[in-house]
Amino acid sequence: MQLIKRPRRLRTNDVIRSMVRENHLMVTDLIYPMFVTYGEDKKIEISSMPGIYQYSLDTFLVALKEVVNLKVPAVLLFGIPEIKDEIGSGAYDEQGIVQQAVRLAKQHFPDLYIITDVCLCEFTSHGHCGLVEDGIILNDATVDILAKVAVSQVKAGADMVAPSDMMDGRVSGIREVLDFVGFCHIPIMSYAAKYASGFYGPFREAAGSAPQFGDRRTYQMDPANGDEALREVALDVEEGADIIIVKPAMAYGDLIYRTKQSFGLPVAAYNVSGEYAMVKAASAQGWIDEERIVMETLLGMKRAGADLLITYHALDVARWLDSNN
Ligand code: PBG
Repeated sequence: MQLIKRPRRLRTNDVIRSMVRENHLMVTDLIYPMFVTYGEDKKIEISSMPGIYQYSLDTFLVALKEVVNLKVPAVLLFGIPEIKDEIGSGAYDEQGIVQQAVRLAKQHFPDLYIITDVCLCEFTSHGHCGLVEDGIILNDATVDILAKVAVSQVKAGADMVAPSDMMDGRVSGIREVLDFVGFCHIPIMSYAAKYASGFYGPFREAAGSAPQFGDRRTYQMDPANGDEALREVALDVEEGADIIIVKPAMAYGDLIYRTKQSFGLPVAAYNVSGEYAMVKAASAQGWIDEERIVMETLLGMKRAGADLLITYHALDVARWLDSNN
């Protein structure tokens, strides 16, 4: 057979395959989400997320040491307060669980990059991401509170804030207040394209943040829509977002791709709790090879255009990368 083009020539052995490899996972891509809670000596495994825990501050410090040892550069913090109320006041309390965790982390590991999730759902008694009046999630009043939350987190030492509430105008609301109090150097990583997704199920167990009535569809996006996500991203970019999150990631590769192509900003793919749970469950059964599937999935997100990967697999990935080098 006379074939001029033979793509297999570049697949002959490991050396040439590694020379023409287009995408690489690196430990610097990784952001590790963590849950902190009140109390002492607690390390409570989330049943639907094996290997992921709610930590009290003391055990949190021990866990952070491992993060730092593995050279994972950044963590994304979520807090579970002891007391929840209608307005989520624990989210902006100077002595709030996230604020305490940030101060402690910065004191012991000043070079670890601390990102804080800015939202109310873990702190409100009704479990919604915003203030509620007569069953309606209020927008502008929520944005005012979110800005307070962001300021309190940055005052505690957060390096970057990540609003995940999906209220309109929250990036500019937060930007304005951060700048006003002198934090113009703090970046905002915005959950710009965040869908009303079934993939958040295990997280809501982890964060105790399931809505007590209704659902999140009046603020999070309809999974049927793609163009709408680009409009959301455009707004957040205009309002000053520095990094854009697409969430979930696995079923939303088109949006990782389109966001990167259209805006050229750093894009973070959030490999969410349900995606993690599926992989863990199938590998526990021996049905799939965990390392292979995780690496392939994350590489797929990078190939689509993600620069950063927010993933519960981060520590395992760091270990695998290290042992394969
Ligand atoms: C809070 C928030 C959620 C997640 C991140 N921030 C849950 C939600 O919107 O219900 C989900 C993360 C995950 O599933 O891993 N608004």
